[in-house]
Amino acid sequence: MCGIIAAASNRNVGKLLVKGLHRMEYRGYDSAGIALHQDDQIAHLRTLGKVKLLEDKMIEEKPKSKLGIAHTRWATHGEPSEENAHPHKSNERIYIVHNGIIENYLNLKEFLKKEGYAFSSQTDSELIAHMLEFFLNQGNSILDAMYLTKEKLDGAYAIAAIDKEDDKNIIIARSKSPLLIGIGTDELLAASDPLAISGLTNEFIFLEDGDVAQISADDFKIYDDSKKQVEREITHIDISHEASSKGDYRHFMEKEIYEQPAAILNTIDGRVGGDDVLDNIFGLGSSEMFSKVKRIQIVACGTSLHAGRVAANWFSAISELPTQVDYASEYRYKNPHVDQDSLLVTISQSGETADTLAALRYAQEKDYLSSLTVCNVPTSSLARESEYSIFTNAGPEIGVASTKAFTTQLAGLMLLALSLAKSRDVNPKLRTRVITAMRSLADTVEETLKLKDEILEIAPEIASKDNALFLGRGIFYPIAKEGALKLKEISYIHAEAYPAGELKHGPLALIDEDMPVIALAPESEIAEKLVSNLEEVKARGGTIYVFSDPSISMELKSGRIIKMPKCDFLLTPIIYTIPLQILSYEVALLRGTDIDQPRNLAKSVTVE
Ligand code: M6R
Repeated sequence: MCGIIAAASNRNVGKLLVKGLHRMEYRGYDSAGIALHQDDQIAHLRTLGKVKLLEDKMIEEKPKSKLGIAHTRWATHGEPSEENAHPHKSNERIYIVHNGIIENYLNLKEFLKKEGYAFSSQTDSELIAHMLEFFLNQGNSILDAMYLTKEKLDGAYAIAAIDKEDDKNIIIARSKSPLLIGIGTDELLAASDPLAISGLTNEFIFLEDGDVAQISADDFKIYDDSKKQVEREITHIDISHEASSKGDYRHFMEKEIYEQPAAILNTIDGRVGGDDVLDNIFGLGSSEMFSKVKRIQIVACGTSLHAGRVAANWFSAISELPTQVDYASEYRYKNPHVDQDSLLVTISQSGETADTLAALRYAQEKDYLSSLTVCNVPTSSLARESEYSIFTNAGPEIGVASTKAFTTQLAGLMLLALSLAKSRDVNPKLRTRVITAMRSLADTVEETLKLKDEILEIAPEIASKDNALFLGRGIFYPIAKEGALKLKEISYIHAEAYPAGELKHGPLALIDEDMPVIALAPESEIAEKLVSNLEEVKARGGTIYVFSDPSISMELKSGRIIKMPKCDFLLTPIIYTIPLQILSYEVALLRGTDIDQPRNLAKSVTVE
């Protein structure tokens, strides 16, 4: 999704701003642009497509400047085009970049048109530049103009603006969209993502909702919503180059798949001891709070929602708690009934997903016992706004398709199931069994990654098809859904998932030689039933690829059976996810798609 970087420096900033845009490419975008203060003028360059094209333009035009703002845009209002790319300007004076959505933009546009402002884009963002200029023209300072503009805006925004009449300062503002200040050695920076400026500093200040800040090369001032100057905490984050680069891998997604054994170890590390989970690993007082929980509500989106659906089974089997799982985007529109003593659990890799954040904020107005997040980014809005949290410690996930974030979320959610069970004093033997299995989980994942060669043999058969069906039962249905999501988002093959028992209620009509069926058959009480479901596919000439427990016997006319490593049944969803990730990756590679930045998608979805 959109990315902002801005710098006020004692040296030229063109290159560092473009480098920052490159670092944010993983978020997904369709155009890029930059505005640089240069000899009382503003150099304004924008391109449709990759940041590389903007970089080429910069090399041609060689603008020199110590103050600038830059942006990658992911289209919401108006098609991807150069005119709609940021920065937007007003009367060659004010230049702005904006992340988020201005909900009342039509009214504000009307107002500004009546005031004589002409619009050159279809975006909601352009009006911010005009509004700032409108208030400046009334004799306000840029700081006051930003506050007056803020009063007019409904929606979510992170804004950075520069004024042609001022070659020293950048003004920034945040409401419901992340924005931070970076304290560099030669400069002060602003960005929507710490990764964008991670090569320049490891000291960050995360702005709060309503904050406005003024930044120059040597100084910054932060003001809260009521325009009172405030101090905000400096957070130290080390983002190693290794963590944010591909190394020898072809794509970030590939690297992140193979990082999973280490990532899972990082999630579990320091959180289990002896044969049980440690107390208060979700924050001080969490164990006591857990003893009062009677019901769980999970909200999340996409892959994170699939993790929640798996966890709902664990909360029932291990913690003996009923759980409701909802799409974050739907939850608050269904007027949910909240039982007292319910725990709200959000799950998110980024911690900035707008729908999940909105669900949390909505739920905080309700009668929940408490809120808890399972999240990969400790500095994210979700982490800061939830009462309790567990960080998955997976390291930066750059590929748009979630891989290590998912398996580490599952590991974190298993720790939650165990902690709830411990506080409620239920299932001690089961807890010990699971903890023992968790200690060797990373090794089992490592072993599962070795299935790559077998998967390489089936990938061309799937890559040549336009559709695929994924089947799983029980706790494996969400894993089938995750497999289908992975395949469709990076290879653009249409894929659907069904609980295998549902086949005969409709989808069986789709089965022919062009519909590969990918099934998950772990050892379970319903394995035999799944085998019967697959017989129905076989009888209709379908090609079946089964990832199965070695104990399950089955014969296939066409397709393949891939035997999975043994693992405790409750942890098998984590293990069975791995071959589906590898399969999607290898299929996408054969189809030549843009694996790390698939079309139309963004890494962090910060609009509702
Ligand atoms: O950052 P989050 O986990 O909140 O993101 C939620 C979804 O947008 C994300 O999981 C999405 O579905 C991924 N592209 C899936 O691979």
